[in-house]
Amino acid sequence: MVTMLLPLVLCLTLPVFFLFFIQHLRAFKKPPLPPGPKGLPIIGNLHKLDNSILCMQLWHLSKKYGPIFSLQLGLRKTIVISSPKLAKEVLKNHDLEFSGRPKLLPQQKLSYNGSEIVFSPYNEYWREMRKICVAHIFSSKRVSSFSSIRKFEVKQMIKTISGHASSSGVTNLSELLISLSSTIICRVAFGRRYEDEGSERSRFHGLLNELQVLMGTFFISDFIPFTGWIDKLKGLHARLERNFKELDKFYQEVIDEHMDPNRQHAEEQDMVDVLLQLKNDRSLSIDLTYDHIKGVLMNILAAGTDTTAATSVWAMTALVKNPRVMKKVQEEVRNVGGTKDFLDEDDIQKLPYFKAMIKETLRLHLPGPLLVPRESTEECIVDGYRIPAKTIVYVNAWVIQRDPEVWKNPEEFCPERFLDSAIDYRGQDFELIPFGAGRRICPGILMAAVTLELVLANLLHSFDWELPQGIVKEDIDFEVLPGITQHKKNHLCLCAKTRSHI
Ligand code: HEM
Repeated sequence: MVTMLLPLVLCLTLPVFFLFFIQHLRAFKKPPLPPGPKGLPIIGNLHKLDNSILCMQLWHLSKKYGPIFSLQLGLRKTIVISSPKLAKEVLKNHDLEFSGRPKLLPQQKLSYNGSEIVFSPYNEYWREMRKICVAHIFSSKRVSSFSSIRKFEVKQMIKTISGHASSSGVTNLSELLISLSSTIICRVAFGRRYEDEGSERSRFHGLLNELQVLMGTFFISDFIPFTGWIDKLKGLHARLERNFKELDKFYQEVIDEHMDPNRQHAEEQDMVDVLLQLKNDRSLSIDLTYDHIKGVLMNILAAGTDTTAATSVWAMTALVKNPRVMKKVQEEVRNVGGTKDFLDEDDIQKLPYFKAMIKETLRLHLPGPLLVPRESTEECIVDGYRIPAKTIVYVNAWVIQRDPEVWKNPEEFCPERFLDSAIDYRGQDFELIPFGAGRRICPGILMAAVTLELVLANLLHSFDWELPQGIVKEDIDFEVLPGITQHKKNHLCLCAKTRSHI
């Protein structure tokens, strides 16, 4: 009887034991890595990616692999986040674990090995440096202390455009807005103003351009060790070294100028004055060196000029392409401005539709579509997937800000969507994150916002904007230049008409 029952008992109990065993094995097994395309040995997926259209390539991959997927960039593990929900997971719930920045050669070299804020790893030095700069350089008090500089420079630009308008000429807004942004940054940071056509100005612009290009340049040795010779062969190391030396010389000249006891002091302290004063302040928890100061100056140049200029060009482009919005926003601006010849920062606070238009520009045409890459500081789990330490993290804000689950008619330029909405870009609403979020959120938001507002409000107040002869609005495109900041590829050239009653 027992021998007859034994096979039956075994048949019934073995599957139960088997299931129990599998379940326990699973519990011990680590969660999987996020899904992603298969790569080749050593180079991984590098050969498939094109730096100039990266955010769109990553968007297509997210449609196939989901809102969190992985890539293998050479030997570097990388994940890409493409939904507001997962952006919140990474930038808020796991903020600490994703507060690092990947160490990449051009950034390291130009930032004096991370002696600054943008590219420094997450550590005690970064925390202190960021605290000091937020309190003394990016504070609202400091930003408003530069208001007369902004006002003067915007007025100068309006004068130049009036000149074009009275001679019925075409205004290259791209050139003017890039120049305005760098003039403002140069004055508030270094206390220098270059004359429009001078050789010092073109030296400065050359340095700044090359800095931006190098920041966006791909060094293969960052992803595959022992391939430094390829970068050398391409001349990249020499270029980087040259730009570093020239920028270092430039910063040193500015510092020496500020330390000259015979220097005539401007009314307001510029950023170099503030940093030098902090250097002498023994109460700080870190000893500021000249390299730290130069690193911060590089941050302000690299993070502050092109971003603001590119956004103002995108706003004017979107308005010219959408005459309905242009008409409505100009009506609002002109109602408040009345017969004044210039709108100041207080007037702009009374312009809800205008402010919504700026948000809508930053939603569709943000200058940094993949933000600034982060790096995981330790292993963690996101959405059930295992993210190893030292994984590079791209947050694809370009896709997130077009997510059809969140945004109605996402491709439409429609500022009205913000009128009855509390959604803002200050890092609390993860469907709109042009400035990032969390510990490493952009500390220049206020400075960027007041500059953008002043420039755009006055361009819209002072002039009617028409297309040059023979051009229709369909000819104006949204093509972008490759680079760390997304600039409009084809310059925006328009005809300004001065309003008769101003
Ligand atoms: C429209 C203009 C701007 C945009 C869209 C922008 C966007 C960003 C983004 C996306 C980040 C990375 C945030 C993250 O990792 O979560 C960032 C970081 C940063 N930005 Fe901006 N930015 C702008 C203007 C400025 C200005 C005017 C300044 C200063 C003059 C500035 C200074 C910085 C600095 C210092 C960081 C590094 C923060 C850190 O790593 O702790 N930015 N910015």
